[in-house]
Amino acid sequence: MNNNQSSCKQKIIERVHIKPKWKLKNYGLRSSPGFVYQQPSVLIGRTDVASVTSWLAPIVWEGTFDATLIDFIYKKQNLTIATTVFALGKYTRFLKDFLESAEQHYFVGFRVHYYLFTDQPEAVPEVKMGENHILTIRKVPSLNRWQDISMGRMDILEKLIENELAGEADYIFCLDVDTKFYGRWSVESLGRLVGVIHPWFFEAPRHLFTYERRPESLAYISEGEGDYYFTGAAFGGSLEDVLHLTKTCREQMNIDAANSIEAVWHEESHLNKYFLYNKPSKLLSPEYLWRNINAGASQIKTIRFSHVAKNNADVRPNP
Ligand code: UDP
Ligand code: GAL
Ligand code: MN
Repeated sequence: MNNNQSSCKQKIIERVHIKPKWKLKNYGLRSSPGFVYQQPSVLIGRTDVASVTSWLAPIVWEGTFDATLIDFIYKKQNLTIATTVFALGKYTRFLKDFLESAEQHYFVGFRVHYYLFTDQPEAVPEVKMGENHILTIRKVPSLNRWQDISMGRMDILEKLIENELAGEADYIFCLDVDTKFYGRWSVESLGRLVGVIHPWFFEAPRHLFTYERRPESLAYISEGEGDYYFTGAAFGGSLEDVLHLTKTCREQMNIDAANSIEAVWHEESHLNKYFLYNKPSKLLSPEYLWRNINAGASQIKTIRFSHVAKNNADVRPNP
């Protein structure tokens, strides 16, 4: 056997060996001759906000992408976006608005598979799904503490990706249900690992971020560290990256529980710790999770997705 053959064989073995079950398709960002769109500018862009991080990940704001072009590019990739949402106890009341508004604005024209986890499948409203959008309902046990419901999502997501999504989806987003869509949320949001900047902290210095500050918790971040404060209400990315994220957060939360400590903002604290040392490859501005539809801020030119008003005492099973 000559050298050429042996190195070629070696390559094939490596490729088979490292190919993960969840491998992201990579077709490149292809356009086509004759497709017409506005010329991008080297000189003009948003000047009131940063649209790139210090590790060169894009931060997506209105005015940073061309929807026509980006839709055209991603249409060629034949993608499926898995999307998880949880509605247990009284949170089933949020489902109608969540699903109906998602069908108006969320990945319209792309394949979406919602996985809805609930303790009351009978309370799920009938919502007409758009083309190539499907909804799967999964029954899960009720829990007594809202904190456990919220944190328990990491474990359920991990198992969903690990056991079911290989070959079924390309990307996944995990969204709170006490929310509503008001504008486009689509392929501009796709990336390997995607975090959403929390709507209350985008102007705050890092020492004011509500990270976990007790060193006893594995979610601990010191006052001198931190990039951004991310919301736990929306995050996503490739199956492989989100699997690693959910597994890590789940493990860290289990260790905290064994040490009788619960991080101040539950899985959100662990998510922030994870993103500090596993930098997201794309960040979504607070347009992708706003405070509420009636609130404004000069930087927010369009609200795409927002928390809805809720009375916690009314809907949560415990304080
Ligand atoms: N959740 C639920 N039932 C509950 C509490 C929480 O289904 O009784 C789910 C729901 O998807 C919700 C998410 O957990 O959006 C996070 O909880 P919540 O929205 O109350 O947290 P917040 O955004 O207010 O911090
Ligand atoms: C609140 C939000 C919580 C948590 C907290 C962090 O506005 O409702 O879920 O993110 O901010 O300080
Ligand atoms: Mn919420």
